[in-house]
Amino acid sequence: MHVLVTGGAGYIGSHAVLLLLEAGHQVSVYDNLSNSSPESLRRVCAMAGASPELFIGDLLDSDRLKEVMLNVKPDAVIHFGGLKAVGESVEKPLAYYRNNVVGTVNLIEAMECADVRRLVFSSSATVYAESKKLPLMEDAPRDASNPYGRTKLHIEQMLEDLAVSSGEWSIGILRYFNPVGAHPSGNIGEDPQGIPNNLMPFISQVAVGRRNEVKIFGKDYPTYDGTGVRDYIHVVDLAQGHLDAIDFLTHHKGQFVWNLGTGSGTSVLDVIGAFSRACGRQLPYKIVERRAGDIAEYYGDPTAARLELGWKAERGIEEMACDMWKWQSQNPAGYGEFEIGDYTNEDLNAYIKGIKDTLSSTNVVS
Ligand code: NAD
Ligand code: UFG
Repeated sequence: MHVLVTGGAGYIGSHAVLLLLEAGHQVSVYDNLSNSSPESLRRVCAMAGASPELFIGDLLDSDRLKEVMLNVKPDAVIHFGGLKAVGESVEKPLAYYRNNVVGTVNLIEAMECADVRRLVFSSSATVYAESKKLPLMEDAPRDASNPYGRTKLHIEQMLEDLAVSSGEWSIGILRYFNPVGAHPSGNIGEDPQGIPNNLMPFISQVAVGRRNEVKIFGKDYPTYDGTGVRDYIHVVDLAQGHLDAIDFLTHHKGQFVWNLGTGSGTSVLDVIGAFSRACGRQLPYKIVERRAGDIAEYYGDPTAARLELGWKAERGIEEMACDMWKWQSQNPAGYGEFEIGDYTNEDLNAYIKGIKDTLSSTNVVS
């Protein structure tokens, strides 16, 4: 199958591209590299022994998107492309609505233009309203508490409307719980810009000496040890869910929603414990005030994904921490700085395929 992956150079996307190539699929990536580096795809190529075609392009550039879609004519699209920082979305709501919502409208229009009707969308557990009824099922009430979450909710609703409007669509909405970890090789992983907002990337920067101590946001929550509890999911398990969703959508029309999580929650203290074991020293931490907007606890019920997709999270918190540590310790500065500058699409494709190394001595880590 030929799969077009928007945002395929990013954290989750690069893991999905690797699994797709390893499974023998043909892959095209559409990414503007605004939050990623072509280095991720170069490493994916080296591991898979096969290459995706990289199309540098913006979801907001509808002409380019249509041109690529008509050129590639994929059998399916996996849509990771978008902005994802909750705090930034509060400061720049319009940038988030434009990039995520308008970008998705453009994508769907380009798909219609090329008669492509199979789509997997990256949604988030953030679309669930705060609930005491755990684990969260797919039909739990939805509500979002920040602009980022609202873009995901609006897109979900738009996809529901689309499926109602025409019986031709096969749409899978994947609600991720908390994606963490890295490929077990340590070659690809999460490379956040600036100070990480999320727990696991912050811990891993403490472990590698880039930050002094982990700040635990509150120890007075009504949870088993007083710290926040989340359903952490290994990025490789998560990526596999996309392949399973595409298989399912090949045989089913309509719109479907699946939680991708482990089904159980882990506290902040237990995540720090797992990471301390992974890196071989007790990581320092300090209890500070609660973070505004955080809720005590949530985890999802992944039964629907197990029954309908045959998908199940295989890796636990120890493996998530070990793989994250392997990536962080092998790549203390992530993929290194990258500015797209004047590089052409051809330059970058040559770079990721390793045909020539014109970029390796400049901006990109070799
Ligand atoms: P990421 O930032 O690493 O990857 C997103 C990719 O999209 C990047 O490569 C970026 O360059 C690209 N992109 C952004 N805007 C674009 C645009 N306008 N045109 C083309 N490309 C664009 O993020 P990730 O963690 O891999 O997340 C992937 C998806 O999963 C996102 O939609 C995110 O909202 C969703 N998600 C992530 C998490 C998480 O915690 N990581 C949780 C739930 C949902
Ligand atoms: N936490 C700390 N210290 C930190 C960072 C986080 O104690 O430095 C705590 C939080 O209070 C929370 C837990 O660790 O209890 C997890 O926090 P994260 O920021 O890692 O993750 P969230 O659950 O807040 O949210 C993340 C993404 C959202 C996404 C959601 C579900 O940021 O965009 O997971 O996928 F929607």
